[in-house]
Amino acid sequence: MNSRCNAGQRPDIRNCLVSAALETGGTRRDFLYIATGAAGAVGAAGAVWPLVDQLAPNARERAAGGPVEIDISGIEEGQLVTIIWRGKPYFIRHLTANEVAAANDAKQDVFRDFAPADGRIASAKGGSEKWAIVAANCTHLGCVPTKVDTGFEGWVCPCHGSKFDVTGRVTKGPAPTNLPLPPYEFANDDLLIVGAKKAGA
Ligand code: FES
Repeated sequence: MNSRCNAGQRPDIRNCLVSAALETGGTRRDFLYIATGAAGAVGAAGAVWPLVDQLAPNARERAAGGPVEIDISGIEEGQLVTIIWRGKPYFIRHLTANEVAAANDAKQDVFRDFAPADGRIASAKGGSEKWAIVAANCTHLGCVPTKVDTGFEGWVCPCHGSKFDVTGRVTKGPAPTNLPLPPYEFANDDLLIVGAKKAGA
């Protein structure tokens, strides 16, 4: 069990994020995305809110948890980054061709909460890039699942062992449901917006 993500109680998300990065051997960039996001969320809590009423509409929306822009141009196939939106972590995973095929070919009965893969896979660059954009809190008690690279399986929860495929569909409990999809859209080939009003899924 992940010592920073205590089982049996709701974990401290910041500790879980750092643990997830360290325990999965994430790349240095994975960790930096995570650390920056977590620190930003913590630092913003006290400093930004008193200023909200003085901000222009766009800035006010961002401070209140408005859309987050992510430059995805440098995220390679097979790579995962974690971003923070509205104080919660979300995974942005650039799927490999094998992962997409495995998700599409999986039999329905291996899932606890079946949903078609194509409804959970986002396409960019005219369909040449495939992405999984999912909440990074386990639907059991909220721990941050750890990335695995088995082709089909995408995450394992360090707290009680739930498993999710590369699109965030739960294959093993106790998590009862899939990792939720946030609203998102691709503003262009390189820019993903999480929290956009126009839902991406
Ligand atoms: S929090 Fe219990 S399995 Fe994920």
